[in-house]
Amino acid sequence: MATELTVNGRATTVDASPDTPLLWVLRDILNLHGTKFGCGIGQCGACTVHVNGAPQRSCVTPISAAANAHITTIEGLSPDHSHSLQEAWIAMDVPQCGYCQAGQIMSAAALLVKHPKPTDAQIDAAMDGNLCRCGTYVRVREAIHKAAAGVTTAKGAA
Ligand code: FES
Ligand code: FES
Repeated sequence: MATELTVNGRATTVDASPDTPLLWVLRDILNLHGTKFGCGIGQCGACTVHVNGAPQRSCVTPISAAANAHITTIEGLSPDHSHSLQEAWIAMDVPQCGYCQAGQIMSAAALLVKHPKPTDAQIDAAMDGNLCRCGTYVRVREAIHKAAAGVTTAKGAA
């Protein structure tokens, strides 16, 4: 079945069963591999993308629910890694294995739209569902604060 949607600003039509998870449409049909498969049951956040601006678990979002929606993936956050969060992530060396990080950044990006200067409590609430086996939570929080403050100087730099 044909479904129309806009992904990273580009209108597209995909041919997939209505119950196909958005995650697999992004990865297997549109070749956008930045969005990761973790648990597949909406519990880890690795697959987080924005659907009409809101963070959503793409592994449990059927493509039928994304019809005519505007989807943003990590690839669409900026054309050149220049989003304040991407710069802060790089400056802070946030990732360890990296597997969860696209989902972390997409949740954080939605948070900053809602709360441009988030408190620790707002960060913790927004990031609560994004699990990291490598335990990068402290650096994630610090990088969000840095991005919010516009401070993205490389770690260790003057
Ligand atoms: S893979 Fe979607 S929430 Fe874990
Ligand atoms: S950086 Fe490894 S799971 Fe988060």
